[in-house]
Amino acid sequence: MNKRILIINGPNLNLLGTREPEIYGTTTFQAFLDELKDSFPETDFSYYQSNSEGSIIDYLQENSEKANGIVINAGAYTHTSVAIRDSLANIKIPKIEVHISNVFQRESFRHHSYLSPVCDGVIVGMGLKGYEWAVGQILYLSKESGKKK
Ligand code: DQA
Repeated sequence: MNKRILIINGPNLNLLGTREPEIYGTTTFQAFLDELKDSFPETDFSYYQSNSEGSIIDYLQENSEKANGIVINAGAYTHTSVAIRDSLANIKIPKIEVHISNVFQRESFRHHSYLSPVCDGVIVGMGLKGYEWAVGQILYLSKESGKKK
């Protein structure tokens, strides 16, 4: 059966392509997602973007039980949201945090993530490629967990 992976983007990431292109590049997320789907034809992707913290939590609660993994870039909520962290902590499937930019080269308020301790891994500063690697890692982790002991 196909694996289902949730890709979740937080605030302002709907503007990828035109938002601070020197930091985030000029590719829209939709164009990237189309390529990602072509690269993983046997994986089902559910993409969700919201500028609202509560909506991201509602989406996590409503969709994670039917998913095999989560790729999340919570944008600025990464650095502020105990509520998204608590929501992720309660979800027992592989979760990878992604940041397009290298947050450690930027302002110090971006150096702390509330989400990293409750995610299985973090990919930072690799551009949109980071989402693709996160998907590959989730598929690898879910294969491992399905292996005979
Ligand atoms: C970001 C980094 C965050 O600090 C910022 O608020 C974003 C995008 C990234 O992908 O590099 O919105 O998560």
